[in-house]
Amino acid sequence: MNALIIGSGGREHAIGWKIKQSSKINSLFFAPGNAGTNWIGTNLDVEITDFQKIKSVVLENNIELVIVGPEIPLMEGIHDFFAADTELKSIMIIGPKKEGAILEGSKDFAKGFMKRNNIPTAKYLTVSTDNLDEGLAFLKILTAPYVLKADGLAAGKGVLIINSMEEAEESLKEMLAGKFGAASKKVVIEEFLSGIEVSVFVITDGENYKILPEAKDYKRIGEGDTGLNTGGMGAISPVPFATPEFMKKVESRIIQPTISGLKKENIEYSGFIFFGLINIKGEPYVIEYNVRMGDPETEAVIMRIKSDFVDLMEGAAKGTLNEKTIEIDEQSAVTVMLVSGGYPGDYEKGEKITGIEKITGSIVFHAGTSLTGEDVVTSGGRVIALSSCGKNMKEALAMSYRNAELIQYKGMYYRKDLGFDM
Ligand code: AMP
Ligand code: GLY
Repeated sequence: MNALIIGSGGREHAIGWKIKQSSKINSLFFAPGNAGTNWIGTNLDVEITDFQKIKSVVLENNIELVIVGPEIPLMEGIHDFFAADTELKSIMIIGPKKEGAILEGSKDFAKGFMKRNNIPTAKYLTVSTDNLDEGLAFLKILTAPYVLKADGLAAGKGVLIINSMEEAEESLKEMLAGKFGAASKKVVIEEFLSGIEVSVFVITDGENYKILPEAKDYKRIGEGDTGLNTGGMGAISPVPFATPEFMKKVESRIIQPTISGLKKENIEYSGFIFFGLINIKGEPYVIEYNVRMGDPETEAVIMRIKSDFVDLMEGAAKGTLNEKTIEIDEQSAVTVMLVSGGYPGDYEKGEKITGIEKITGSIVFHAGTSLTGEDVVTSGGRVIALSSCGKNMKEALAMSYRNAELIQYKGMYYRKDLGFDM
């Protein structure tokens, strides 16, 4: 069959690289893709939320499988759009409908869902201008630092962690007054949880699920986990503290109640669920849900999936995931993100990238790259994910770091300390 992957990052390149290895795939398309996806498939000049244009390219290219990388098209209802269209409704689409995407799209919904389904998470209160006084009183029973989250999507900037009560009260008022636009009309105030984070992924058909390899994402720009938050500077998988005992708790206390909660609440769901977890002294708590795979976690996790990924996705789309098996490689996989100088602040684009052809032993997943004539140039903050496998994390990291030295562009930066905390 022919497949279309929606998105343009390292995650989409990695998914494409993996499904290209399936005997079930003939032609592969990306909308819009990047310089790397263009080598393994065909990039189509289509915006990720232009559903009418996506429909025309799907029909023109006989596409039978659509994989939605990022959350935005899911929240805007791409799956609902396919389901309501007579020409598209038989096409497999990986990702939930709007009613499922709300798990990521509304923090208030996600917290309510966890409460209703007894899923361990931080204590919280949702505040709007109607119950501001209650919100201020709730802050008083918490201890610093204070966690304030815009209910809706705010380009990754909607979570504030604040040390002083005065500042927290001020920020709460500012958020409700529109600091993040409509996204912060409601604000979730949360108890601060102190622990170490881990990303756990499942693929599900709404009834059955398969657990993919877990990963740890390094979010801060600076070594030793310092400085500003980024989209992710690299990832490792497996995560040493995610022991079988810990993962058993994750499955019984978090994954199973989430899947059965979706069913109970009549939310049809097919696709991925990304559980952003925190490990507090061996006990897992949910920090957030995402309704897609993580980036850069995918670029590491995918290296460890031995099974045919298309077969699993067919299972998710058709409700037959119970008939499938997932085989995971015991090896370690890591990805090191090469970013633009200045990221996550302002940075230059259009810098020529050289050395990609010298890479051996790692897979080069393109994130923010594009083609200018024959040249591959930078076009985003996160530029290239260098993924490697090894018999342990150290060996895999050494391979990615060796190869990172062969790639050059003006301003290139990467963290050299991934795995330092393991
Ligand atoms: P979120 O968008 O909800 O994942 O929040 C972004 C980041 O803020 C998370 O990855 C955590 O590092 C941090 N965070 C969110 N909620 C909490 C919490 N309740 N306690 C401690 N840290 C948190
Ligand atoms: N790496 C975190 C995310 O994809 O949201």
